[in-house]
Amino acid sequence: MKRVLIFAAICLSTSSLSAQDIQLPTPQKTGGKPLMEAINLRQSNRTFVDKDLDNQTLANLMWSAYGFNRNDKRVVPSANNKQEFSVFIALKSGVYLYDASANKLIQRLKGDHRSEFGKQDFVAKASANLAYVADLDKADGNMARIDCGFIAQNVYLFCASSGLSTVARGYFDQAELKKLLNLDDKQEVILCQSVGFSK
Ligand SMILES: Cc1cc2nc3c(=O)[nH]c(=O)nc-3n(C[C@H](O)[C@H](O)[C@H](O)COP(=O)(O)O)c2cc1C
Repeated sequence: MKRVLIFAAICLSTSSLSAQDIQLPTPQKTGGKPLMEAINLRQSNRTFVDKDLDNQTLANLMWSAYGFNRNDKRVVPSANNKQEFSVFIALKSGVYLYDASANKLIQRLKGDHRSEFGKQDFVAKASANLAYVADLDKADGNMARIDCGFIAQNVYLFCASSGLSTVARGYFDQAELKKLLNLDDKQEVILCQSVGFSK
């Protein structure tokens, strides 16, 4: 009996050690460049150097994309408040699903899958590749495409404000990405977006 308990304790401790979720710091909701300056700086940039984003920047980035700014409402609008998106992020350490309520990145895959988030060479070098995934049970495809634009634009403005490079990308393989992310039939990747450093 004692041996069984010791074995169970070892298994439990190894499994909690292997959980590689990232608990993000509180996002910084003030500061940055003034809005008009950020709008003026917004642009697509496809030059990336392979360098990790720190956790504070990750927290700010994910909150800008799809965080809550009221109890149950997001920083981005959605038609009929359907909030139909899941936001995935590929980092060098793995692929994660953003849990905005818990302010956490939930690990879905281990290892570097950044290059699988797009078809262009620079994608593998971006610090982070985001995938905006709509649940088409909650909203129809047209509305989802419009809603997605707000997410991508928030990320563009966050990057402009923070001196990061970014580009929205429609050029990815839908079937490959669906398989990689283990999406169900009703989920569709609407857009990807690379984020990182240009130098
Ligand atoms: C819906 C959408 C899809 C895009 N897809 C790609 C893409 O697959 N690859 C890419 O390099 N740029 C992509 N872009 C970026 C555009 O090429 C870019 O926004 C455009 O050239 C204007 O440049 P700017 O963003 O610097 O103003 C996309 C932009 C949008 C809005």
